[in-house]
Amino acid sequence: MKNKVHVPPIKIQGIKTKLVPWISENVEITENTRWVEPFLGSGVVGFNVARKNALFADSNPHTIAFYNQLKDKKITSSIVKQFLYEEGKILSEKGQEYYNYVRARFNEEQNPIDFLFLNRSCFNGMIRFNRKFKFNVPYGHKPQRFAQAYITKIVNQIKYLELAFEQNNWEFKCQSFEDTIKEANTDDFIYCDPPYIGRHVDYYDSWDEENELRLHELLINSEAKFMLSTWDNNEYRKNEYLDTVWKNCYKLNKEHFYHLGAKESNRKPMIEALITNYKITEKQIVERQPKSQYIQMDLFTTIEKKSTQHCV
Ligand SMILES: C[S@@+](CC[C@H](N)C(=O)[O-])C[C@H]1O[C@@H](n2cnc3c(N)ncnc32)[C@H](O)[C@@H]1O
Repeated sequence: MKNKVHVPPIKIQGIKTKLVPWISENVEITENTRWVEPFLGSGVVGFNVARKNALFADSNPHTIAFYNQLKDKKITSSIVKQFLYEEGKILSEKGQEYYNYVRARFNEEQNPIDFLFLNRSCFNGMIRFNRKFKFNVPYGHKPQRFAQAYITKIVNQIKYLELAFEQNNWEFKCQSFEDTIKEANTDDFIYCDPPYIGRHVDYYDSWDEENELRLHELLINSEAKFMLSTWDNNEYRKNEYLDTVWKNCYKLNKEHFYHLGAKESNRKPMIEALITNYKITEKQIVERQPKSQYIQMDLFTTIEKKSTQHCV
């Protein structure tokens, strides 16, 4: 990965932008490894870490359709620039009424460029669909959202991908994680960032124990190397699945802060985890733990701490 993390044009809750360097320095890939990512989301991880060959997949048809149209040049940076300029102008005059109009148009026609417009002007850059497959995120209440500087920012994000899609052999598929993992070969590297268990906020993005067990079974039985991103613990809770379902894997931890709202006082710590089926040989590893023991992180530590474990 180059030093700069390139942010993609699509936003999603749980986007891993800040964790990309950490993930990147701990994957085990060569220039020839195919990157297989069953839970693409915004694409921020794969678009920064994957090499020449990649299979990117997600159950959400709209993110995949957007990236496929970009790849096929049906959507280009100049089309986006013009579109956001024109639509943004109407949004600045009509506000919520126009946002609702575009949302209804998208739910009727499912045009990926409308999806981009909504994703960048809705509340908190969320992606959420109801049971009837309708996008239902409310307006972000920023009528001047598509000011010139913001359009330029989005257009530059698209330009980066235009170049990347031209230079690489990156494939996009809308399919379940089961199908994607089954497509992985021995020499591929699988990176997984599934939804958090029990969130159930989105039709395309629900996750339960059955999914977690199925994901584990598929990854353990795959001959490819894999890395799973998940959470370990926060001030209140611990991810119990790490001590049960994933106990036979290697684990690396890092503290990460996320924001609830805009206030600095709402900056909350979270211990993130990377679970792998290979021993991470990264130089910053602090220590290896004895077999069968999980590291019990102090819930209130504020240090940037990394650790690995291996249980058998
Ligand atoms: C936590 S997000 C991934 C975020 C991504 N790593 C990023 O940084 O933008 C999880 C993704 O998994 C997708 N997903 C949920 N259930 C899925 C399933 N059964 N098969 C494939 N993808 C699924 C969701 O649509 C969502 O995009």
